[in-house]
Amino acid sequence: MSKLAIKGGNKIVNIKPPHYRWPVITQATEESVLSQLKKSISIYNRSGIIEELEEKFKKYYNRKYALLTNSGTTALYSMYIAAGLKEGNEVICPTYTFFATVTPLFFTGAIPILVDCDESGNINPNKIEEKITEKTKAIVVTHMWGIPCEMEEIEKIAREYNLLLFEDASHAHGAKYKDRKVGTFGDVSVFSLQAQKLIPAGEGGVLLTNNEEIYYRALLLGHYNKRCKQEIPSAYELYRYSTTGMGLKLRIHPLAAAIASKQFENLEKVLRGKRKNAKYILEKISEFTCLRPPQFKDYMEPSWYAFVFHYLSEKLYNIPIDKFYEALKAEGCEELDRPNSTCPVNYHPLFQNPGELFTQYKGKIKYKRGDFPTAEKFHETSLKLPVWHEDSDKEIIDLYLRALEKVTQNYKELI
Ligand SMILES: Cc1ncc(COP(=O)(O)O)c(C=O)c1O
Repeated sequence: MSKLAIKGGNKIVNIKPPHYRWPVITQATEESVLSQLKKSISIYNRSGIIEELEEKFKKYYNRKYALLTNSGTTALYSMYIAAGLKEGNEVICPTYTFFATVTPLFFTGAIPILVDCDESGNINPNKIEEKITEKTKAIVVTHMWGIPCEMEEIEKIAREYNLLLFEDASHAHGAKYKDRKVGTFGDVSVFSLQAQKLIPAGEGGVLLTNNEEIYYRALLLGHYNKRCKQEIPSAYELYRYSTTGMGLKLRIHPLAAAIASKQFENLEKVLRGKRKNAKYILEKISEFTCLRPPQFKDYMEPSWYAFVFHYLSEKLYNIPIDKFYEALKAEGCEELDRPNSTCPVNYHPLFQNPGELFTQYKGKIKYKRGDFPTAEKFHETSLKLPVWHEDSDKEIIDLYLRALEKVTQNYKELI
């Protein structure tokens, strides 16, 4: 093959960027937003587009309650507060996740007990039990990049120790574990509806649960007055707080709900397209000795939020990942990425010394780099591609694969 682009050769991916577009704003989405704009841009109770979208989530996930929020982060916050977590509690958390899975815990006083991942990038179920103490109240998991966690084992541990189980399924809309949708295992599950996610609202989130008490408390936290009064029975002991709730307002914007509600209708089609293309990329990536494809079991159906694979420098004459990555970028792989802020959470100053921002944590948490070798290696070797969902995307996929082939074949130019 010709000279590498990074050394002055022609680049392989010669299609003008962007090479990937998400979200896809269909005409139906535009119409839905316009129609909502004319109806109402502030909804105080569970009606209209809010009710419509919550009903879609309830039905799809077969849950008793769905509560929309203005972000995935505030849905996670609502989950922790509504579950009654407080100082003196410990919560088992994944080390390798987007930090917002864990950071809302800092507002409760509970201590996040981090657990390393396994080869899939998800929390290692074999390392959970050793972290359980008499203070442990809950386990939270994230289905990273859309690959389901080992839910049967995790559910078993949660039951055995009488712990709450929480799922952050922000990457995993529609993903399945043994034919069961993720987001239906937890006492509470949360999804981000941020623009990049599989059901995009722009900004938004949703909390799902079958637990009435948790639902009422989440309403009190962020949906004061009309919604609380309409939905919390007057006989319920906390009903008297309905007017003010706990004082926060975490409602989703109706226009965001209008976007998500239309996008929801495309989810299954998008998932089918992604699964088809992911299978193809996976087969091709598996042929490279210096690359390791995503690891998951045959009883898992990922949502393919992203395709995260690994560069094994030891299999390519120890050429560092930075060089390998730069060479691919030079070949025109604009959409190839190295995850940055999504990293082992012990890399963040907030997890090394939260006490400056949250005084009650002073001296209580001292995670540091090096604490979680599997998660750190997973992160340091990660490369990320989008998972295209149309058949017509095959052309761009093939160009990216050819770029990988060119760089690995011409490795000598990088030494
Ligand atoms: C795994 C995970 N959890 C939570 C969040 C937070 O969601 P949001 O951005 O909607 O607040 C994200 C966002 O990227 C995420 O990736």
